[in-house]
Amino acid sequence: MSLHQLVYLSESTSKMSSDDLIPILNQAKPNNAAIDVTGSLFYNGGWFLQVLEGSAATLTALYEKISKDPRHKNLRLLYNEPAEFRTFTRWSMNMTNLDDRQSDKYEELVEIIEAAKAGRRIRSMSPAVVLLHMFRN
Ligand SMILES: Cc1cc2nc3c(=O)[nH]c(=O)nc-3n(C[C@H](O)[C@H](O)[C@H](O)COP(=O)(O)O)c2cc1C
Repeated sequence: MSLHQLVYLSESTSKMSSDDLIPILNQAKPNNAAIDVTGSLFYNGGWFLQVLEGSAATLTALYEKISKDPRHKNLRLLYNEPAEFRTFTRWSMNMTNLDDRQSDKYEELVEIIEAAKAGRRIRSMSPAVVLLHMFRN
């Protein structure tokens, strides 16, 4: 299998609470586990940033399906590249609601989302690359 990592940014069509996010996670977890996809989803009170990891063909099909979801719009593909290793090995999908300041990486994640929204680089790197580096162990 040729492993790929895909990162996109999207705008939620309505403001979502943690309770609204749970159904997305409940769909994503079993679906992704069944197709050997791992990843992480971040929500910043209006914007989603999602990392998906799996085979190239699987990710293309999954991204196509996710992009039709009416819960978000204006998807922007930030990154879709081959990878040697998965970054989110433990999660078929993990959710971080930054609105709740849930994350110890809160400041960095907000900066990454803001840069992605503005199409700005961070220390000459794409925000998606900064995100992937941040979670690499
Ligand atoms: C921001 C966002 C991220 C999502 N991520 C995933 C995902 O990683 N995997 C997935 O299967 N569905 C994901 N979904 C849900 C899909 O768009 C779709 O509703 C779901 O896969 C349908 O599940 P079903 O085929 O089991 O009915 C996501 C939806 C949104 C709004």
